Amino acid sequence: MIQVEDPTDQAMVAKIHEAGQEHLFDDWDQLDSATRHSLLEDLHRIDLGFIQQLIRDHLDASASEAPIAAPTPPDWIPLSDPRHSAARQRGLEALQRGEVAVMMVAGGVGTRLGHPGPKGSFPILPISGGTLFQIFAESLLRLQKKVGRPIHWIIMTSPTNHSETVQYFKQHDYHGLTPSEVTIVPQEQLPVLDARRQKILRSGPGQVMFSPDGHGGSIRLLQKKSAELRQRGIQHIYTHQVDNPLARMADPELVGLHIEQDSRFTSKAVAKTDPDEKVGVFCNVGDHLRVIEYSELGKEDRHLTDADGSLSFRAGNIATHVIELDFIAPESTTGPLQLPFHVARKAVRHWHGGDWHESTSPNSVRFETFIFDVLPMANRGLIVEADREQEFAPVKNGEGSDSPATSRAALQRIWASWLMQCGIPLELDASLHPLRPIEISPLVASDAAELKQALEKIEIPTEGPILLR
Ligand code: UD1
Repeated sequence: MIQVEDPTDQAMVAKIHEAGQEHLFDDWDQLDSATRHSLLEDLHRIDLGFIQQLIRDHLDASASEAPIAAPTPPDWIPLSDPRHSAARQRGLEALQRGEVAVMMVAGGVGTRLGHPGPKGSFPILPISGGTLFQIFAESLLRLQKKVGRPIHWIIMTSPTNHSETVQYFKQHDYHGLTPSEVTIVPQEQLPVLDARRQKILRSGPGQVMFSPDGHGGSIRLLQKKSAELRQRGIQHIYTHQVDNPLARMADPELVGLHIEQDSRFTSKAVAKTDPDEKVGVFCNVGDHLRVIEYSELGKEDRHLTDADGSLSFRAGNIATHVIELDFIAPESTTGPLQLPFHVARKAVRHWHGGDWHESTSPNSVRFETFIFDVLPMANRGLIVEADREQEFAPVKNGEGSDSPATSRAALQRIWASWLMQCGIPLELDASLHPLRPIEISPLVASDAAELKQALEKIEIPTEGPILLR
């Protein structure tokens, strides 16, 4: 066993050996004292008992994922349902009473997009180059003005992008929001394991390889902060993902429906038309609603159609939910809800035995929880249809589908339609995309009616880009 002086280090080193993870010290003799110190610091952050439990439950030969029992398509409140607009006032009133906080999950590593900073700092706006963070912050500002009070915004980062995110908001003066109404908080991380030997991996000589614990980490954060949130008078948490610039902030309609239907977990869903679109779908399994990921839904179910030709499993998850605080963090003695862990396998470069090891096939496992896994535990869940064109254009990949290009195009189609509804003539191409670049800040308008009012004071140039800020 390696020799360390500090008694707490000694105890930890002994535990590492007991847990069969002593490979972490294979190159100890070659490390300088600063590197040794940083490795020990990382190791102190690991709850070894918990990791061993995860290994037993998910990776041991006897562990197997329970197959999903036969899913059936769920009911939802369709777009055409008059309850949508009727609920709006109810939602606005809850916002006016300060009962709603917004939580954005922004802790992902965003490897597919290839953007170096936090994903929210990606310049999505087509003319000004403004960011995803900006569009959300300005939407929230507008809604705050409408309801006449601040709406608390919780931004979940991960330890990897936390300080950059904080710095971003400071540099941009929180895009006009009150800093005390924005809580930026990192989610937790778990060590990444070797897929074959179940050993903890290292990402460098003095570092353990950690990865965020999935967006279900937001549930644990909310549980931890529940007393503080209750003190602020918050009862409903409206969550959205950083990758969808069309995500509505604290949409009063969704909040209103959630309250009217006495739901504990309410989600927006868009109608899938392509059976192979890579979104999760809402399903009924037994008596419970849940999300089944694209990869878990059988081909037959993915292609199943109703009599009118629409996909039966079409309620695509756009990751916008309203969650009851009392449901995820009950004040009773039953304790907070626990989420199941999922195993993700990825190819990673890692440091072992004094050398780098590369892999092109998945050589590592990481453990993640998903926010929507609390849905089956809610005996009152609700799915509400949203208009895809208006509400879902995520930025996931650098190119192709779900990329900055498709997302910007969706934004511009929306802004062009508002302008045309206000009587501004525009030329469109075959896919209804305007020939002139357009950008309308949420500070100016959040729909065509608001734009009409704003245009009483703003002149639209007769040619060239239209930038309204
Ligand atoms: C996700 C959903 C899918 C849904 C789709 C809609 C899962 C497993 N699936 O897929 O059902 O149809 O979005 O766009 O979520 N994040 C964190 N911390 C983490 C991991 C992720 O905050 O530890 C955040 C990311 O920053 C991102 C979001 O969660 O905002 C989604 O993560 P991602 O891994 O991109 O999910 P998808 O596979 O696209």
